[in-house]
Amino acid sequence: MTRVAFVTGGAGGIGQAICKRLADANFRVASSYIAAERETALKWQEASKGAGYDYVLVEGDVSNFESSAAIVREVEQQLGPIEVLVNCAGITRDGTFRKMTEDQWKAVIGVNLNGVFNVTRQVINGMIDRGYGRIVNISSMNGQKGQFGQSNYSASKAGIHGFTMSLAQEVASKGITVNSVSPGYIGTSMVMAIAEEIRNKIVAQIPVGRMGTPEEVGAVVVFLAGEDAGYITGANITMNGGQHMQF
Ligand code: CAA
Repeated sequence: MTRVAFVTGGAGGIGQAICKRLADANFRVASSYIAAERETALKWQEASKGAGYDYVLVEGDVSNFESSAAIVREVEQQLGPIEVLVNCAGITRDGTFRKMTEDQWKAVIGVNLNGVFNVTRQVINGMIDRGYGRIVNISSMNGQKGQFGQSNYSASKAGIHGFTMSLAQEVASKGITVNSVSPGYIGTSMVMAIAEEIRNKIVAQIPVGRMGTPEEVGAVVVFLAGEDAGYITGANITMNGGQHMQF
């Protein structure tokens, strides 16, 4: 039996690699995308089809509770119950706090943190009823260490850690694990949007000497999504090239 995995923001830089890795591991994969990303998402779906990957794509906004409910309903109608949820949808609106607008704050908290609540809330009771589930939340190294210019983003990603540990305790006895993955700088368009001069300074601080790849993140997510990872819950897996080491 192949399990159903749903990845929010799957058409994004890290999301695409997560979807591919999950499909390679025999999951049936669905993903959501926001209307503004429709063209990118549909192009990716088409290109993936050509390469033998058949993803179910659903349009919607994870920052909105009703839209999240509709997304999950549609995925479950097409593929069946969601057994693996990867909360990957995330945005940045970087800026120093003294200049940060309410819109920048609310947009980032809305997608990155409220989105995790909005989508997880739709699937959790089904997972409890069936006695099985894997929830993987994509957080960030910058939620652990903070980052100049990212008070909104770091707050949202740190919030994901608290959520992960709390929900993990609530559902541990129900066969459900809840974990987070905290990538450092991964070579996606989100990171490439940082000015080159600043980016070069960032890479100079990474002991491994390079940015990570989306595929490397995908590999960790697939491991956590598997049955073998049943004893890992409430954990945060860091992967940052040694840029931020924590006990
Ligand atoms: N620490 C301390 N001071 C810093 C600093 C830092 N890291 N970076 C800049 N400064 C200083 C500058 O030297 C400057 O000082 P003066 O006013 O004395 O000249 C002051 O702070 C203003 O800095 P900027 O000129 O950079 O301010 P800005 O408004 O032009 O730009 C910014 C602000 C957009 C936040 C820019 O600094 C930036 O892009 N920073 C990178 C943010 C970042 O790393 N984002 C990660 C995105 S990827 C991601 O989020 C994925 C993930 O999970 C890792």
